[in-house]
Amino acid sequence: MKEALAAAPVATPIPITAGPSGLRFHAYYLDRVQQEALLATLRQVLHRAPLYTPSMPKSGRPFTVRMSNCGPLGWTSDQAGYRYQPTHPETGRPWPPLPGVLIEIWNDLTGYPYPPQACLINYYGPTAKMGLHQDRDEQDFAAPVVSLSLGDSCLFRVGGLKRSDPTRSFRLNSGDALVLGGEARLAFHGVDRIFPDTSPLLAETGRLNLTLRRVTRPNVAIAAVGCGGDLPL
Ligand code: SIN
Ligand code: MN
Repeated sequence: MKEALAAAPVATPIPITAGPSGLRFHAYYLDRVQQEALLATLRQVLHRAPLYTPSMPKSGRPFTVRMSNCGPLGWTSDQAGYRYQPTHPETGRPWPPLPGVLIEIWNDLTGYPYPPQACLINYYGPTAKMGLHQDRDEQDFAAPVVSLSLGDSCLFRVGGLKRSDPTRSFRLNSGDALVLGGEARLAFHGVDRIFPDTSPLLAETGRLNLTLRRVTRPNVAIAAVGCGGDLPL
């Protein structure tokens, strides 16, 4: 990504001082051309692994966000619980491979020495939101989570390590990147609302969010975490 980003306006990482350390915000990390290129790549992924509506553990209530994944593993949720699995829950097919550009972005933003294993793709229509939660279905909290926003802006909320900790909200715009690492790796976070029609990027309007995650500890076979398969780490 470094070469590809060379021509882009410099996006200075702004350390967010309140709340847990390790939360890094890169405003306009992807310029418009890079956003369009990433979107075209995502359209191909979503053609092979269509967005679907996950449901909440136990209650089975549908999410307002639609989801898909790429990479050896994908995060999903249904009445049985939250989990990573190697196949799309509706098509039964393996998730499409992680596009090279996402691995370059991961390397550029994290310096973590192993590749991401899952990219969760969230699609928010104008009224979709995501409640406050922690990303804790991974084995390896040493690896950060990288979030990329495309399309309409949203109001993102982040708190501390306890649900009851104070939270703060800020706007994420198309092209912004956020890294939840260090202490912030387990920070509660969520999306309060979408600001409809704030970006012309998606013809259908709405917001796409990608989160890149490392799921297993390096050198721990994916099969050992109950996800089956003999997949490259
Ligand atoms: C997530 O926590 O999975 C998504 C966050 C976002 O949409 O910005
Ligand atoms: Mn999350």
